[in-house]
Amino acid sequence: MSTTFEKMMSGTNGQLALLHVLAENSFDSLLITDASVEGKIIYANKSFKTLTGHDPSKIIGKTPRILQGPGTDPKVIARLSDALKSGSQFEGKAVNYKKDGTPFVMHWRVLPIKVGKKIIAWVAIQREGSAI
Ligand SMILES: Cc1cc2nc3c(=O)[nH]c(=O)nc-3n(C[C@H](O)[C@H](O)[C@H](O)COP(=O)(O)O)c2cc1C
Repeated sequence: MSTTFEKMMSGTNGQLALLHVLAENSFDSLLITDASVEGKIIYANKSFKTLTGHDPSKIIGKTPRILQGPGTDPKVIARLSDALKSGSQFEGKAVNYKKDGTPFVMHWRVLPIKVGKKIIAWVAIQREGSAI
């Protein structure tokens, strides 16, 4: 008997298993924060470690500001901040820093995760970008 994709995904367990495989094996770095004003990190995937050098288990509870430094354009961060306040999405590029201090261009999107109208968390999809 064949199983349709819809049937397989109809239960919470199937959906969670799919999301887990996608997140852990994504070529892009994924970072999820809670919905608090500070935006505390609750999840980072393996590609986040490849991109930034930070071990996901060591940054839970911190904020993505750990990636910023003197070369990070405050105008881009202000635009992201406005998006977070208004509950909308953001895409941009800015200089970020790896764990060892190496600067690189972060190209990322930040989107709200909503249940109904309520934002329960934020997710960032991140990769190394070319020149700003
Ligand atoms: C899900 C999420 C991902 C973020 N990822 C990054 C990032 O990759 N690089 C970065 O410079 N800032 C990132 N930020 C932004 C900072 O965490 C922070 O929200 C921003 O600096 C604005 O706050 P501030 O004005 O208090 O610094 C991210 C924020 C969220 C919510």
